[in-house]
Amino acid sequence: MALEMTPNVEWVGTIDWHERDFHGFTTERGVTYNAYLVRGERTALIDTVKARFAPAFVEELRNRTGGIGPHFVVCNHAEPDHAGGLPALMEAFPSTTLLCNAKCRDILAHHYAVDGWKVREVTHGEEISLGGRTLRFIDTPMLHWPESMATYLPEEKLLFSMDIFGQHVASSGRFDDEVRWCVTLDEAKSYFANIVQPYARKVPPLLETLRGLEMEIIAPSHGVVWRSRVAEILEAYEEWSSRVPRAKVLVLFDTMWESTERMAGAIVDGASAEGVEVVSLKVGNTHLARIATEALDAACVAMGSATLHRGMMPRMAAVLTYLKGLASGGKAGFSFGSFGWGRGGPEELDEGMRAMKWEILREPLRSRYRPDAETLEACREAGALLAHRAREAAGSKTERRTDS
Ligand code: FEO
Repeated sequence: MALEMTPNVEWVGTIDWHERDFHGFTTERGVTYNAYLVRGERTALIDTVKARFAPAFVEELRNRTGGIGPHFVVCNHAEPDHAGGLPALMEAFPSTTLLCNAKCRDILAHHYAVDGWKVREVTHGEEISLGGRTLRFIDTPMLHWPESMATYLPEEKLLFSMDIFGQHVASSGRFDDEVRWCVTLDEAKSYFANIVQPYARKVPPLLETLRGLEMEIIAPSHGVVWRSRVAEILEAYEEWSSRVPRAKVLVLFDTMWESTERMAGAIVDGASAEGVEVVSLKVGNTHLARIATEALDAACVAMGSATLHRGMMPRMAAVLTYLKGLASGGKAGFSFGSFGWGRGGPEELDEGMRAMKWEILREPLRSRYRPDAETLEACREAGALLAHRAREAAGSKTERRTDS
């Protein structure tokens, strides 16, 4: 399948409508692997697709290049969802020259039998003319792998941004104005939270670089191509990478016999009564990717667990591990949960939150078996405490938010 994006650029990627697990990232709306064919006097393919889609992809390219394949293939990123089609491509079209930076070449050599491939290393800022169209390479290290790179096409004012600005959305529309904004924004936020967030400090310098480019189209490696909302997605990235939180309280919990769930409900009531945004997620029926997305802009987080085997429940441990890996810092909160004859759940969560250097607003809030009226009242008061802190943390900067 191919689609003309501009008179000289075609989308030649793959839509995987049914993918629901992208190396642990739950993809409820499916995935696309975007690849693009640029036509000057010579042709350049920008990235490939996942290996299992490579046979059809190569045949499509054969048809679209008169049987000879592209003159160049640019590898912006060596992760297999984009580089996985290279072996089939390079075997089918041995005269094609692979363009990539030195780090990418090294990583590719650890994945594939690259001997025999025609490779030309490119460097940051270097340009290669296709005749009428120019490829300019922009290194974006650790966004989100060491070799990550973007490619700019000045004649089209078009940036092939690789994973950055991507979203996991399988859709019939290829452009941002063909898919609802609430969907693409939510998925772009989820992508940022789950993939980009650990390297968020690299984003502002990249945005500064991009401000120096004329840019009318951003074509990422996943999801829709931005052409109508370029300013909005740049602004969203500026906001998410700033780590300025919303006046938002997130309550995460797992429960055994509903005691911790009742505590969570009272915390939610207490926070809601203060008029801030509140989101409550029971982790047993919520994917980690959604939890991370909601946590991204929450100023305060309460984490609750019943006590199981002198510790927290395993699904809460998974949440803690996941948020820690995402460097989900700068939050304030506290732990809560029930116990019977031994301590463990809320105490272990408290330790985990402290290890992430979150601001701890109070000691663990505990209930022996069912929470009584006094405990539930303490939960409501603790919810109000979260709300006050969230409003304080967000401060006057909340008016900057774009997705409210
Ligand atoms: Fe879409 Fe980092 O690969």
